[in-house]
Amino acid sequence: MAIRHYLKFSDLTADEYAWLFERAALIKARFKAYEKYQPLADRTLAMIFEKASTRTRVSFEAGMYQMGGSVVHLTTGDSQLGRAEPIEDSARVISRMVDLVMIRTFGQDKIERFASCSRVPVINGLTNEFHPCQILADIFTFIEHRGAIQGKVVAWVGDGNNMANTWLQAADLLGFSVHVSTPSGYEVDQSVAGVRGPHSYKVFKDPKEACQGADLVTTDVWTSMGYEAENEARKKAFADWCVDADMMAVAKPDALFMHCLPAHRGEEVQAEVIDGPQSVVWDEAENRMHAQKALMEFLLLGRTAA
Ligand code: CP
Ligand code: NVA
Repeated sequence: MAIRHYLKFSDLTADEYAWLFERAALIKARFKAYEKYQPLADRTLAMIFEKASTRTRVSFEAGMYQMGGSVVHLTTGDSQLGRAEPIEDSARVISRMVDLVMIRTFGQDKIERFASCSRVPVINGLTNEFHPCQILADIFTFIEHRGAIQGKVVAWVGDGNNMANTWLQAADLLGFSVHVSTPSGYEVDQSVAGVRGPHSYKVFKDPKEACQGADLVTTDVWTSMGYEAENEARKKAFADWCVDADMMAVAKPDALFMHCLPAHRGEEVQAEVIDGPQSVVWDEAENRMHAQKALMEFLLLGRTAA
C-alpha cells in the first residue's frame, strides 16, 4: 500500500471521509461497550510536540494503546529536534523505527519536509496553518448530533487561524458553507487555506450576521500558540468577537456550539454559551480519540473489514 500522509484536511477525499466517520462511530461504540479492538497490535506511533497539548496528546496516546499499539513521546526540549538536527534527518531516523508519526509544530513547511523524508505516514497534530484532526472530530460530532453536514452553515467567529483555514478546506471538500467573521487584519487567507474560491465561504464584517441562520457556531482562542507576543493587541482587536447569547439567538434554534478548546470564558466565548445547552464541546473533545483511532487504522491498514 502506498504511504498516505494526513497533513491537511484536503489530503483525503469526500468518500474517504464518509468511510472514516462510519469507522469512528463503530470504534466508539466498541469502546463504549468495553469491547477489545486491537488491530494495531505491535505498531508504534511517535508523537512529536513542539507546542503544548492536552487533548491531542491524550487522545493519540490513549487511542493507540487501546488499539493494541504503543507510543513514543518526543518534545523539542528533550530530543535533538531542539538542538538543530535537521528535520529531514529526524524523519529518516524516526520513521525507520516506528509505524506512524504525529507532529504538532509551527510552520506547515516543517511537517511537509518531515513527511517528504518519512517512510511511514505522518499526521498533522496542529500547525500554524491547519488542524485537520480537530475538524475531523468536529464534523464527526456534528454528524452524531445532527446528521449529514452537507448543505449546512457553519459560522466561524474570531481569528482567521489554523482552525478557520481547516474549516474552509472541509467546506470546500464536503459541500457545506462557512460564514466567517474576523476583525480586520485577522482575515482568512484563501491562498493559505488552499480553497478554490469563495463559493464555500462567505465573509461578514459583523459576527452576529455571520451567525444568522447557522447550524453550528464555532470559535477559537484569540491568540494561538506561537502568537503570544501579539496578545495585548489581539485582546483589543477581538473584543467584539465573543460568542454570546445574542449571537446564538440568531442562529438556528437547534444550532450547536463548538470550540476546539482550551477556551477562555469571557474572551472568545461567554460562559453561558460554552457551558449552555447548545454546547457540545465535551463530546467534541472526546471524539478526537475515536476519530483519530479511525484515521490511524485507515492510514496503517486501509479500509479494513474488521
Ligand atoms: N484542541 C486541541 O488540539 O487541544 P490540545 O491543544 O490540548 O491538544
Ligand atoms: N488555534 C489554537 C488551537 C489550539 C488547539 C492554536 O493554534 O493555539
